[in-house]
Amino acid sequence: MAGIELKNVKKTYLVDGRELPVLKGIDLDIPEKQITVLLGKSGCGKTTLLRVVGGLEPADSGEILFRVPHKTAFVFQEPRLMPWLSVMRNVSFGLKREEIKPEEIQSIIDVVGLTGFEKALPAQLSGGMQHRTAIARALAYHPSFIMMDEPFAALDYFTREQMQRELLRIQQEQKTSILFVTHSLDEALILADQIAIIRDGKIGQLFSIDVPQMERDVMSPSMITTKREILSHLDLTTGA
Ligand SMILES: Nc1ncnc2c1ncn2[C@@H]1O[C@H](COP(=O)(O)OP(=O)(O)O)[C@@H](O)[C@H]1O
Ligand SMILES: [Mg+2]
Repeated sequence: MAGIELKNVKKTYLVDGRELPVLKGIDLDIPEKQITVLLGKSGCGKTTLLRVVGGLEPADSGEILFRVPHKTAFVFQEPRLMPWLSVMRNVSFGLKREEIKPEEIQSIIDVVGLTGFEKALPAQLSGGMQHRTAIARALAYHPSFIMMDEPFAALDYFTREQMQRELLRIQQEQKTSILFVTHSLDEALILADQIAIIRDGKIGQLFSIDVPQMERDVMSPSMITTKREILSHLDLTTGA
């Protein structure tokens, strides 16, 4: 079932008095309780689409239909932490007093691997740790729909793999709907139920991956075939 439906969504920016059409008619169904990955090269409009779906920016035209009510959390490309608050307080930031359960916040901090840094300030953390704090903040909110904009891009290979596994575990446990942006094909293949390729301002192609995430091996012949096929649909010429 489509949890969120996008119909002919368009967005044009005005840059230096010139029109820059970014989204030229996006049609996409975002199913409930699944991971939809938006994949495309840098500058193709992934962040713009996420911001429009999240209501952070209006579309020029088109429709965004929420079929079921959602409690939405956003993980931005940059961590956007409060510099004067500790990790613990950043993670519980935005929660109502009665929603703050210290043991639960602690377990989320443990999940993202920040045990021992609860009292640290953002400036005392590495970039990757700041990103993990931002992810913990989103999880603490118990969203039913999470929008994530290249959340793992700043992490090293090992941490990134670990975070991908944790995200899958949490998603399966809580049946969250996720709209995940990446420019990494491998990351898309690891996480996605559905991969939507953005190309020239539209959804160029949709791929469903039916093998359960926990059983996937991105090196397997079938995944390599899928990878080749997706690559053939990505616009690999340099441009924007
Ligand atoms: N606020 C803005 N004003 C003008 N142009 C923008 C703005 N935000 C993004 N753009 C332009 O829109 C295009 C798509 O940007 P973006 O959605 O950030 O791409 P992606 O996330 O895929 O890298 C880029 O050419 C970018 O320069
Ligand atoms: Mg972006």
